[in-house]
Amino acid sequence: MKVRIPIAEDDKFVQLVSQWEKSCTNTESTLHQLSPYIGKLKSSIAKDLILNYSRPGELVVDPFAGSGTVLLEAVRLGRRAFGVDISPYAALLSRAKLSAPDTLDEALSQAKERLAAALLRPQPDSQIIPSWVKSFFHPDTLSEVINFADECQEQKDDFLLACMLGILHHQRPGFLSYPSSHLTPYLRDKKFPKDQFPDLYQYRALEPRLLAKVERAYKRKEFRVANDQYSFALKNALEATFPNEVGCFITSPPYMNALDYGRDNRLRLWFINKQGSEQIDRSQSQQREGFQEVMAKFSQQVVDSLVKNGYCIVIVGDQLNKRIKFPLSKTVLETFKTHAPELHLIKTIENSIPDIRRARRDHRGVRTENFFVFKKKNA
Ligand SMILES: C[S@@+](CC[C@H](N)C(=O)[O-])C[C@H]1O[C@@H](n2cnc3c(N)ncnc32)[C@H](O)[C@@H]1O
Repeated sequence: MKVRIPIAEDDKFVQLVSQWEKSCTNTESTLHQLSPYIGKLKSSIAKDLILNYSRPGELVVDPFAGSGTVLLEAVRLGRRAFGVDISPYAALLSRAKLSAPDTLDEALSQAKERLAAALLRPQPDSQIIPSWVKSFFHPDTLSEVINFADECQEQKDDFLLACMLGILHHQRPGFLSYPSSHLTPYLRDKKFPKDQFPDLYQYRALEPRLLAKVERAYKRKEFRVANDQYSFALKNALEATFPNEVGCFITSPPYMNALDYGRDNRLRLWFINKQGSEQIDRSQSQQREGFQEVMAKFSQQVVDSLVKNGYCIVIVGDQLNKRIKFPLSKTVLETFKTHAPELHLIKTIENSIPDIRRARRDHRGVRTENFFVFKKKNA
Protein backbone atom coordinates (compact mmCIF):
# COMPACT_ATOMS: atom_id res chain seq x y z
CA MET A 1 0.00 0.00 0.00
CA LYS A 2 1.30 3.43 -0.95
CA VAL A 3 2.03 6.05 1.72
CA ARG A 4 2.33 9.69 0.91
CA ILE A 5 3.48 12.82 2.64
CA PRO A 6 0.54 14.62 4.24
CA ILE A 7 -0.75 17.66 2.40
CA ALA A 8 -0.59 20.81 4.57
CA GLU A 9 -3.97 21.44 6.17
CA ASP A 10 -3.65 25.19 6.16
CA ASP A 11 -6.21 27.92 6.56
CA LYS A 12 -5.95 29.04 2.96
CA PHE A 13 -8.77 26.61 2.47
CA VAL A 14 -11.13 28.66 4.62
CA GLN A 15 -10.67 31.57 2.21
CA LEU A 16 -11.50 29.33 -0.73
CA VAL A 17 -14.78 28.28 0.87
CA SER A 18 -15.87 31.91 0.96
CA GLN A 19 -15.52 31.93 -2.87
CA TRP A 20 -17.94 29.04 -3.34
CA GLU A 21 -21.00 31.30 -3.30
CA LYS A 22 -19.89 32.90 -6.56
CA SER A 23 -21.23 31.53 -9.83
CA CYS A 24 -18.66 29.73 -11.99
CA THR A 25 -20.91 29.37 -15.05
CA ASN A 26 -18.83 31.83 -17.08
CA THR A 27 -15.44 30.51 -16.09
CA GLU A 28 -15.75 26.71 -15.77
CA SER A 29 -15.09 24.33 -18.64
CA THR A 30 -18.18 24.41 -20.88
CA LEU A 31 -18.13 20.60 -20.90
CA HIS A 32 -19.63 20.80 -17.40
CA GLN A 33 -22.70 22.32 -19.09
CA LEU A 34 -23.21 19.48 -21.57
CA SER A 35 -26.57 18.42 -20.12
CA PRO A 36 -28.26 19.21 -16.78
CA TYR A 37 -28.17 16.89 -13.79
CA ILE A 38 -30.06 17.22 -10.53
CA GLY A 39 -27.93 17.42 -7.40
CA LYS A 40 -24.85 18.37 -9.45
CA LEU A 41 -21.83 19.63 -7.54
CA LYS A 42 -20.50 23.06 -8.41
CA SER A 43 -17.33 22.60 -10.49
CA SER A 44 -15.43 25.34 -8.62
CA ILE A 45 -15.96 23.37 -5.38
CA ALA A 46 -14.74 20.14 -7.01
CA LYS A 47 -11.70 22.01 -8.33
CA ASP A 48 -10.74 23.45 -4.92
CA LEU A 49 -11.16 20.08 -3.22
CA ILE A 50 -9.02 18.31 -5.83
CA LEU A 51 -6.27 20.94 -5.66
CA ASN A 52 -6.19 20.87 -1.87
CA TYR A 53 -6.52 17.14 -1.21
CA SER A 54 -4.82 15.36 -4.12
CA ARG A 55 -1.66 15.62 -6.15
CA PRO A 56 -1.04 15.58 -9.92
CA GLY A 57 -0.91 12.03 -11.27
CA GLU A 58 -2.89 10.57 -8.36
CA LEU A 59 -6.09 8.60 -8.76
CA VAL A 60 -9.23 10.51 -7.72
CA VAL A 61 -12.37 8.37 -7.23
CA ASP A 62 -16.04 9.35 -7.11
CA PRO A 63 -18.29 6.31 -6.45
CA PHE A 64 -21.52 8.37 -6.81
CA ALA A 65 -20.23 10.30 -9.78
CA GLY A 66 -23.50 11.64 -11.25
CA SER A 67 -22.71 13.92 -14.17
CA GLY A 68 -18.96 13.49 -13.65
CA THR A 69 -18.13 16.91 -12.19
CA VAL A 70 -15.35 15.56 -9.94
CA LEU A 71 -14.01 13.30 -12.70
CA LEU A 72 -13.79 16.05 -15.31
CA GLU A 73 -12.11 18.49 -12.92
CA ALA A 74 -9.69 15.74 -11.82
CA VAL A 75 -8.48 14.95 -15.34
CA ARG A 76 -8.38 18.65 -16.23
CA LEU A 77 -6.04 19.17 -13.26
CA GLY A 78 -3.72 16.32 -14.31
CA ARG A 79 -5.06 13.61 -11.99
CA ARG A 80 -6.41 10.23 -13.07
CA ALA A 81 -10.11 9.63 -12.44
CA PHE A 82 -12.39 6.67 -11.74
CA GLY A 83 -16.15 7.03 -11.40
CA VAL A 84 -19.07 4.75 -10.53
CA ASP A 85 -22.81 5.44 -10.71
CA ILE A 86 -25.94 3.33 -10.82
CA SER A 87 -27.71 5.59 -13.34
CA PRO A 88 -27.27 5.03 -17.10
CA TYR A 89 -27.77 8.78 -17.64
CA ALA A 90 -24.96 9.57 -15.18
CA ALA A 91 -22.71 7.00 -16.89
CA LEU A 92 -23.43 8.44 -20.32
CA LEU A 93 -22.84 12.03 -19.25
CA SER A 94 -19.63 11.29 -17.35
CA ARG A 95 -18.19 9.25 -20.20
CA ALA A 96 -19.25 11.91 -22.69
CA LYS A 97 -17.36 14.65 -20.87
CA LEU A 98 -14.24 12.54 -20.52
CA SER A 99 -14.25 11.19 -24.08
CA ALA A 100 -15.14 14.41 -25.95
CA PRO A 101 -13.09 14.69 -29.18
CA ASP A 102 -9.96 16.82 -28.74
CA THR A 103 -10.98 19.69 -31.01
CA LEU A 104 -14.15 21.43 -32.13
CA ASP A 105 -13.40 20.58 -35.78
CA GLU A 106 -13.22 16.87 -34.97
CA ALA A 107 -16.45 17.06 -32.95
CA LEU A 108 -18.31 18.89 -35.73
CA SER A 109 -17.23 16.51 -38.47
CA GLN A 110 -18.19 13.53 -36.27
CA ALA A 111 -21.59 15.15 -35.66
CA LYS A 112 -22.19 15.67 -39.40
CA GLU A 113 -21.26 12.05 -40.09
CA ARG A 114 -23.72 10.75 -37.45
CA LEU A 115 -26.49 13.09 -38.64
CA ALA A 116 -26.06 11.84 -42.22
CA ALA A 117 -26.09 8.19 -41.11
CA ALA A 118 -29.18 8.78 -38.93
CA LEU A 119 -31.08 10.12 -41.97
CA LEU A 120 -30.56 6.78 -43.73
CA ARG A 121 -32.18 4.79 -40.92
CA PRO A 122 -35.79 3.56 -41.30
CA GLN A 123 -38.64 5.42 -39.64
CA PRO A 124 -38.84 4.40 -35.93
CA ASP A 125 -41.68 2.07 -34.99
CA SER A 126 -44.35 4.37 -33.52
CA GLN A 127 -45.75 1.52 -31.40
CA ILE A 128 -42.67 1.37 -29.20
CA ILE A 129 -42.92 5.07 -28.33
CA PRO A 130 -45.03 5.73 -25.20
CA SER A 131 -47.59 8.51 -25.47
CA TRP A 132 -45.94 10.55 -22.69
CA VAL A 133 -42.75 10.69 -24.80
CA LYS A 134 -44.76 11.62 -27.91
CA SER A 135 -46.43 14.44 -25.99
CA PHE A 136 -43.10 16.35 -25.82
CA PHE A 137 -42.25 16.49 -29.55
CA HIS A 138 -43.45 17.23 -33.03
CA PRO A 139 -43.63 13.75 -34.67
CA ASP A 140 -41.00 14.58 -37.34
CA THR A 141 -38.58 15.93 -34.72
CA LEU A 142 -39.13 12.84 -32.59
CA SER A 143 -38.29 10.47 -35.48
CA GLU A 144 -35.07 12.38 -36.18
CA VAL A 145 -34.07 12.38 -32.53
CA ILE A 146 -34.75 8.65 -32.03
CA ASN A 147 -32.75 7.74 -35.14
CA PHE A 148 -29.86 9.96 -34.06
CA ALA A 149 -29.86 8.45 -30.56
CA ASP A 150 -29.87 4.93 -32.04
CA GLU A 151 -27.03 5.82 -34.42
CA CYS A 152 -24.92 7.25 -31.55
CA GLN A 153 -25.58 4.16 -29.44
CA GLU A 154 -24.61 1.84 -32.27
CA GLN A 155 -21.37 3.80 -32.79
CA LYS A 156 -20.78 4.03 -29.00
CA ASP A 157 -20.64 7.82 -29.34
CA ASP A 158 -21.38 9.01 -25.80
CA PHE A 159 -20.33 12.58 -26.49
CA LEU A 160 -22.80 13.30 -29.29
CA LEU A 161 -25.63 11.43 -27.60
CA ALA A 162 -25.06 13.57 -24.48
CA CYS A 163 -25.02 16.74 -26.65
CA MET A 164 -28.41 15.72 -28.04
CA LEU A 165 -29.79 14.98 -24.56
CA GLY A 166 -28.54 18.40 -23.47
CA ILE A 167 -30.88 20.08 -25.99
CA LEU A 168 -33.74 17.59 -25.56
CA HIS A 169 -36.18 19.69 -23.57
CA HIS A 170 -36.56 23.36 -22.74
CA GLN A 171 -38.75 26.23 -23.82
CA ARG A 172 -36.09 27.98 -25.90
CA PRO A 173 -35.90 27.76 -29.71
CA GLY A 174 -32.49 26.02 -29.64
CA PHE A 175 -34.10 22.96 -28.03
CA LEU A 176 -35.99 20.04 -29.53
CA SER A 177 -39.18 19.67 -27.48
CA TYR A 178 -42.38 21.62 -27.25
CA PRO A 179 -42.04 24.26 -24.48
CA SER A 180 -41.03 22.49 -21.31
CA SER A 181 -38.68 22.82 -18.37
CA HIS A 182 -34.99 22.05 -18.79
CA LEU A 183 -33.74 20.28 -15.67
CA THR A 184 -36.69 17.94 -15.26
CA PRO A 185 -39.21 17.23 -18.04
CA TYR A 186 -42.53 19.05 -17.56
CA LEU A 187 -44.54 20.44 -20.44
CA ARG A 188 -45.27 24.16 -20.18
CA ASP A 189 -48.43 23.94 -22.24
CA LYS A 190 -50.46 25.97 -19.74
CA LYS A 191 -48.02 28.86 -19.90
CA PHE A 192 -47.62 28.48 -23.68
CA PRO A 193 -50.94 27.13 -25.03
CA LYS A 194 -50.72 25.80 -28.58
CA ASP A 195 -53.47 28.07 -29.92
CA GLN A 196 -51.63 31.19 -28.69
CA PHE A 197 -48.06 30.09 -29.46
CA PRO A 198 -48.35 27.91 -32.59
CA ASP A 199 -44.69 28.58 -33.56
CA LEU A 200 -43.49 26.74 -30.46
CA TYR A 201 -45.25 23.57 -31.63
CA GLN A 202 -43.69 23.37 -35.11
CA TYR A 203 -41.15 20.85 -36.38
CA ARG A 204 -37.67 21.56 -34.95
CA ALA A 205 -34.77 20.33 -37.07
CA LEU A 206 -32.07 18.50 -35.15
CA GLU A 207 -29.03 19.41 -37.28
CA PRO A 208 -28.66 23.19 -36.66
CA ARG A 209 -29.49 22.79 -32.98
CA LEU A 210 -27.03 19.94 -32.47
CA LEU A 211 -24.17 21.71 -34.28
CA ALA A 212 -24.79 24.88 -32.23
CA LYS A 213 -24.76 22.76 -29.06
CA VAL A 214 -21.41 21.17 -30.04
CA GLU A 215 -19.96 24.67 -30.60
CA ARG A 216 -21.14 25.76 -27.15
CA ALA A 217 -19.55 22.69 -25.57
CA TYR A 218 -16.13 23.70 -26.98
CA LYS A 219 -16.27 27.35 -25.94
CA ARG A 220 -13.99 26.60 -22.97
CA LYS A 221 -12.37 23.22 -23.57
CA GLU A 222 -8.72 24.04 -23.44
CA PHE A 223 -7.43 20.63 -22.31
CA ARG A 224 -6.99 17.12 -23.70
CA VAL A 225 -7.76 13.92 -21.85
CA ALA A 226 -5.72 10.78 -22.49
CA ASN A 227 -7.68 7.52 -22.90
CA ASP A 228 -5.85 5.88 -19.99
CA GLN A 229 -6.50 8.83 -17.66
CA TYR A 230 -10.02 7.77 -16.68
CA SER A 231 -12.46 4.90 -16.35
CA PHE A 232 -16.11 4.61 -15.37
CA ALA A 233 -18.27 1.71 -14.17
CA LEU A 234 -22.06 1.70 -14.48
CA LYS A 235 -23.00 -0.23 -11.33
CA ASN A 236 -24.19 -0.09 -7.76
CA ALA A 237 -21.42 1.35 -5.56
CA LEU A 238 -22.02 -1.64 -3.25
CA GLU A 239 -20.52 -3.90 -5.92
CA ALA A 240 -17.66 -1.64 -6.95
CA THR A 241 -14.01 -2.44 -6.33
CA PHE A 242 -11.25 0.16 -6.38
CA PRO A 243 -7.51 -0.25 -6.94
CA ASN A 244 -5.55 0.04 -3.68
CA GLU A 245 -3.75 3.19 -4.75
CA VAL A 246 -6.52 5.78 -4.53
CA GLY A 247 -5.05 9.18 -3.66
CA CYS A 248 -8.35 10.83 -2.85
CA PHE A 249 -12.08 10.05 -2.77
CA ILE A 250 -14.41 12.99 -3.40
CA THR A 251 -18.10 12.25 -3.56
CA SER A 252 -21.60 13.54 -2.92
CA PRO A 253 -23.79 10.50 -2.25
CA PRO A 254 -27.51 10.44 -3.12
CA TYR A 255 -29.64 12.59 -0.84
CA MET A 256 -32.05 9.76 0.04
CA ASN A 257 -35.59 10.84 -0.77
CA ALA A 258 -34.67 14.46 -1.45
CA LEU A 259 -34.00 13.80 -5.14
CA ASP A 260 -35.45 11.21 -7.47
CA TYR A 261 -32.95 10.51 -10.25
CA GLY A 262 -35.26 8.14 -12.12
CA ARG A 263 -38.32 10.38 -12.27
CA ASP A 264 -36.42 13.61 -12.85
CA ASN A 265 -34.33 12.20 -15.70
CA ARG A 266 -37.11 10.07 -17.20
CA LEU A 267 -37.21 11.58 -20.68
CA ARG A 268 -33.44 11.45 -21.20
CA LEU A 269 -33.37 7.92 -19.73
CA TRP A 270 -36.00 6.80 -22.23
CA PHE A 271 -33.69 7.70 -25.12
CA ILE A 272 -30.83 5.81 -23.48
CA ASN A 273 -32.78 2.67 -22.63
CA LYS A 274 -36.20 2.42 -24.21
CA GLN A 275 -37.23 -0.45 -21.93
CA GLY A 276 -36.02 0.12 -18.38
CA SER A 277 -36.12 3.89 -18.04
CA GLU A 278 -38.12 4.12 -14.80
CA GLN A 279 -36.11 1.64 -12.76
CA ILE A 280 -33.75 3.94 -10.93
CA ASP A 281 -36.24 5.45 -8.48
CA ARG A 282 -36.24 2.15 -6.63
CA SER A 283 -32.45 2.11 -6.29
CA GLN A 284 -31.43 0.97 -2.88
CA SER A 285 -29.87 4.10 -1.50
CA GLN A 286 -33.08 6.12 -1.72
CA GLN A 287 -34.22 4.71 1.66
CA ARG A 288 -32.48 5.20 5.00
CA GLU A 289 -31.52 1.54 5.53
CA GLY A 290 -30.23 1.24 1.98
CA PHE A 291 -28.31 4.48 2.35
CA GLN A 292 -26.68 3.31 5.57
CA GLU A 293 -25.68 0.03 3.96
CA VAL A 294 -24.16 1.82 0.97
CA MET A 295 -22.28 4.26 3.24
CA ALA A 296 -20.98 1.44 5.48
CA LYS A 297 -19.66 -0.46 2.49
CA PHE A 298 -18.22 2.73 1.00
CA SER A 299 -16.34 3.61 4.20
CA GLN A 300 -14.76 0.13 4.18
CA GLN A 301 -13.85 0.44 0.52
CA VAL A 302 -12.12 3.72 1.39
CA VAL A 303 -10.12 2.08 4.18
CA ASP A 304 -9.05 -0.74 1.85
CA SER A 305 -8.04 1.34 -1.15
CA LEU A 306 -6.96 4.79 0.05
CA VAL A 307 -3.22 5.47 0.31
CA LYS A 308 -2.03 6.29 3.84
CA ASN A 309 -2.33 10.02 4.47
CA GLY A 310 -4.89 10.08 1.66
CA TYR A 311 -8.17 11.97 1.99
CA CYS A 312 -11.81 11.12 1.58
CA ILE A 313 -14.23 14.02 1.22
CA VAL A 314 -17.93 13.28 1.58
CA ILE A 315 -20.39 16.03 0.72
CA VAL A 316 -23.87 15.58 2.15
CA GLY A 317 -26.84 17.86 2.00
CA ASP A 318 -29.29 18.37 4.84
CA GLN A 319 -32.82 19.64 4.74
CA LEU A 320 -33.69 22.37 7.22
CA ASN A 321 -36.67 20.59 8.64
CA LYS A 322 -37.27 20.17 12.37
CA ARG A 323 -39.20 16.93 11.81
CA ILE A 324 -36.09 15.24 10.45
CA LYS A 325 -34.61 13.81 13.63
CA PHE A 326 -31.65 12.09 12.08
CA PRO A 327 -30.15 14.23 9.33
CA LEU A 328 -28.18 12.68 6.53
CA SER A 329 -24.93 14.27 7.71
CA LYS A 330 -25.30 12.57 11.09
CA THR A 331 -25.96 9.23 9.39
CA VAL A 332 -22.73 9.57 7.42
CA LEU A 333 -20.65 10.53 10.46
CA GLU A 334 -22.02 7.72 12.63
CA THR A 335 -21.59 5.16 9.87
CA PHE A 336 -17.98 6.16 9.18
CA LYS A 337 -17.18 6.12 12.90
CA THR A 338 -18.59 2.62 13.33
CA HIS A 339 -17.32 0.98 10.17
CA ALA A 340 -14.11 2.84 9.40
CA PRO A 341 -12.37 3.94 12.62
CA GLU A 342 -9.12 4.14 10.62
CA LEU A 343 -10.46 7.29 8.98
CA HIS A 344 -10.09 10.42 11.08
CA LEU A 345 -12.43 13.33 10.63
CA ILE A 346 -10.07 16.30 10.27
CA LYS A 347 -12.33 19.02 8.94
CA THR A 348 -16.02 19.82 8.74
CA ILE A 349 -17.31 22.65 6.60
CA GLU A 350 -20.94 23.71 6.51
CA ASN A 351 -22.00 25.65 3.49
CA SER A 352 -25.51 26.95 2.86
CA ILE A 353 -26.84 26.42 -0.65
CA PRO A 354 -28.27 29.59 -2.16
CA ASP A 355 -31.81 29.18 -3.56
CA ILE A 356 -30.51 29.67 -7.07
CA ARG A 357 -28.58 26.38 -6.92
CA ARG A 358 -31.44 24.24 -5.67
CA ALA A 359 -33.44 22.13 -8.10
CA ARG A 360 -36.80 23.33 -6.78
CA ARG A 361 -36.74 26.52 -4.74
CA ASP A 362 -40.07 26.04 -3.00
CA HIS A 363 -39.40 22.35 -2.39
CA ARG A 364 -38.32 20.86 0.93
CA GLY A 365 -34.99 20.29 -0.81
CA VAL A 366 -31.46 20.36 0.43
CA ARG A 367 -30.51 23.64 2.13
CA THR A 368 -27.06 23.09 3.59
CA GLU A 369 -24.12 21.16 2.30
CA ASN A 370 -21.70 19.59 4.78
CA PHE A 371 -18.18 18.73 3.74
CA PHE A 372 -16.54 16.03 5.82
CA VAL A 373 -12.83 15.58 5.27
CA PHE A 374 -11.50 12.23 6.52
CA LYS A 375 -7.85 11.29 6.51
CA LYS A 376 -6.38 7.82 6.60
CA LYS A 377 -3.70 7.98 9.25
CA ASN A 378 -0.60 5.83 9.45
CA ALA A 379 -1.24 2.66 11.46
C1 LIG B 1 -25.80 13.82 -5.50
S1 LIG B 1 -25.67 12.87 -6.94
C2 LIG B 1 -24.00 13.08 -7.43
C3 LIG B 1 -23.85 14.33 -8.25
C4 LIG B 1 -22.45 14.53 -8.78
N1 LIG B 1 -21.51 14.91 -7.74
C5 LIG B 1 -22.45 15.56 -9.89
O1 LIG B 1 -21.75 16.60 -9.76
O2 LIG B 1 -23.19 15.39 -10.86
C6 LIG B 1 -25.69 11.23 -6.33
C7 LIG B 1 -25.57 10.14 -7.38
O3 LIG B 1 -25.58 8.86 -6.71
C8 LIG B 1 -26.12 7.92 -7.64
N2 LIG B 1 -26.49 6.72 -6.86
C9 LIG B 1 -27.58 6.49 -6.07
N3 LIG B 1 -27.51 5.30 -5.48
C10 LIG B 1 -26.35 4.73 -5.91
C11 LIG B 1 -25.70 3.47 -5.67
N4 LIG B 1 -26.23 2.58 -4.84
N5 LIG B 1 -24.52 3.23 -6.29
C12 LIG B 1 -23.96 4.13 -7.13
N6 LIG B 1 -24.54 5.34 -7.42
C13 LIG B 1 -25.71 5.63 -6.81
C14 LIG B 1 -27.26 8.66 -8.30
O4 LIG B 1 -27.58 8.08 -9.53
C15 LIG B 1 -26.67 10.06 -8.41
O5 LIG B 1 -26.10 10.25 -9.67
